[in-house]
Amino acid sequence: MDNGHKTGNGVSTAICGTAPVPAEEIEAICAQFGNDKHRMLDILREVQDRYRCIAPATMDHVAAATGLTRIEVEGVASFYSFLSLAPKGRVTIRLCDDIVDRFSGVSEVACVFEEELGLKIGETSNDGAFSLEYTPCIGMCDQAPAAMVNDIVLTKLTPETARSAAQALKAGRSPEQLISERFEALTPSERALHMVDNNIRHAGEVLLGPVPEDAGLAKAATITPTQIISAIEESGLRGCGGAGFTTGRKWRFAASERAEKHFVICNADEGEPGTFKDRVLLTERPHLLIEGMTIAARAVGAREGILYLRGEYVYLRELLLQVLEERRRRGLLGKDILGVKGFDFDIRLQLGAGAYICGEEGALISSCEGLPGEPKTRPPFPVNRGYLGYPTVVNNVETFCHAARILDKGAAWFNAMGMEGSHGTKLFSVCGDCLNPGIYELPYGHTVRELLAMVGGEDAAAVQVGGPSGTMIARDSFHRKLTFDDLATGGAIIVFNGERNVLEIVEYYMSFFVHESCGYCTPCRVGNVFLQKAIQKFRKGLANPEDIDYLKDLSGTIIETSRCGLGMTSPNPVLTTLKNFPLVYSAVIKPSKDGIRDTFDIQSAIDGARKIAKRRSYIFDKDFTQ
Ligand code: SF4
Ligand code: FES
Repeated sequence: MDNGHKTGNGVSTAICGTAPVPAEEIEAICAQFGNDKHRMLDILREVQDRYRCIAPATMDHVAAATGLTRIEVEGVASFYSFLSLAPKGRVTIRLCDDIVDRFSGVSEVACVFEEELGLKIGETSNDGAFSLEYTPCIGMCDQAPAAMVNDIVLTKLTPETARSAAQALKAGRSPEQLISERFEALTPSERALHMVDNNIRHAGEVLLGPVPEDAGLAKAATITPTQIISAIEESGLRGCGGAGFTTGRKWRFAASERAEKHFVICNADEGEPGTFKDRVLLTERPHLLIEGMTIAARAVGAREGILYLRGEYVYLRELLLQVLEERRRRGLLGKDILGVKGFDFDIRLQLGAGAYICGEEGALISSCEGLPGEPKTRPPFPVNRGYLGYPTVVNNVETFCHAARILDKGAAWFNAMGMEGSHGTKLFSVCGDCLNPGIYELPYGHTVRELLAMVGGEDAAAVQVGGPSGTMIARDSFHRKLTFDDLATGGAIIVFNGERNVLEIVEYYMSFFVHESCGYCTPCRVGNVFLQKAIQKFRKGLANPEDIDYLKDLSGTIIETSRCGLGMTSPNPVLTTLKNFPLVYSAVIKPSKDGIRDTFDIQSAIDGARKIAKRRSYIFDKDFTQ
């Protein structure tokens, strides 16, 4: 079936936006990526950017060029939220609607955009000029409300700034001109800093203080891969993305695999709401990151690497490409790095396309392979069989940066910082109800209370440690330590004052997981919907004591039967608030009397069945006689 159009000369075209797209243009895009099916995400991103949608006929052309079936291409195109099968506007405005932005006034900002553009959220204008939509966290949580406008970022929006941005766009100004009239003349680094404040509030000794250029790499080039791995092991470095696996062991496992190729992948897909530390490292320490990846490559014998950048950070693409190019020119990437014969390594940038699940290691690898970002079944682990089936080291941005510093300053230096089991420093990204949101680099071991004093959040009533998949704690737990063994976090610290509604936060977080579940396994896909509905029941005052047991049982089932970390942690907002804020739940519960539920609502209970049976009730339907 050809869903495209035949032109007068018989050339098949795909319809995207308002104009048909000639097949040869799609073929040229595929050729640009070597007609390689593993570059499917790049191909589809390019099609989306140019034609504002991926039309059915386009998918046929892409499938033919890459040797895939149409359904395989559609599987990728329909998976990522930044790809669209229906035409998007020439300017797409994506407003972050995370709970932090909601508490910062995103609704008022959204109303202004709706009013000025004559659109509702989720709509595209008839003339194809604008699309307006909500999106989960875009990593600007310390400067909410925030929005992406095509590839640029607007922060600290107010109804007034939103109105002037919308009016300027309507008057024909480009999104880039909203940032600066001289945008084209700015360097990639200047552009990034014009858009987003890095808000470094406390620079620590390891990452954000003074860092000598490539000193770690110079050291790594003079020692053996085994010595590099030993140094990382002795330092006690653990993965900084949240899971905390020992980095040296990971590298040793990958290095010990006999294979034709090894790969190193940097996970720069920090999608956990409230996390924005990697964004700051990517902007402030891009050379240190690439240095760390290059050291890892020498350690495990990799010649190829991938830097997977979340789609929301597309505004950093030019900056990172420039850094990669500069390092190639300086002999720090490419063949015989630093003149060491056979030390060959290069990196390609892979842009994501709006999928939280791709922060999960297996899903990230799937995405790099040009597949939908679905997690992989373990074992085998990526260090044994990862990208394209080869041993692969996947580490977080912060972890690679730490590794480079350890090679320079020595394992003992790093190991002496922090505390037993949690060595070195950690970047905390702090947002929410505090005076000084931003980035704090601190040695492991500070208590939550100490951190709150630093950030001006002393009146906090609740702190979400580690984002929605982490733990929400109350005041009586503020003495706890921010370490792997007490309160582990990939970096997100979200502060809530006493005026915030805990159940509203929990409901939002459950809606987030419902939205982000990849849908592969039923407990995660369906169970989270039920959890969200159950929380709504509490918020409406319709819950009974038995509903507490229901929340716990259902959460347990989801955790036990889910395939990946998303499902295994998605009930955490419910479970941690049940444990740490029991009064929030008990205050809205209606007790059952003599086995009768006061809150039982017969109408809602049978509503679905009545609709299916197309029956109306003499008692309940007011319009029965009509
Ligand atoms: S647990 Fe959820 S996100 Fe993970 S594989 Fe299953 S459905 Fe997908
Ligand atoms: S950008 Fe809105 S919460 Fe992160």
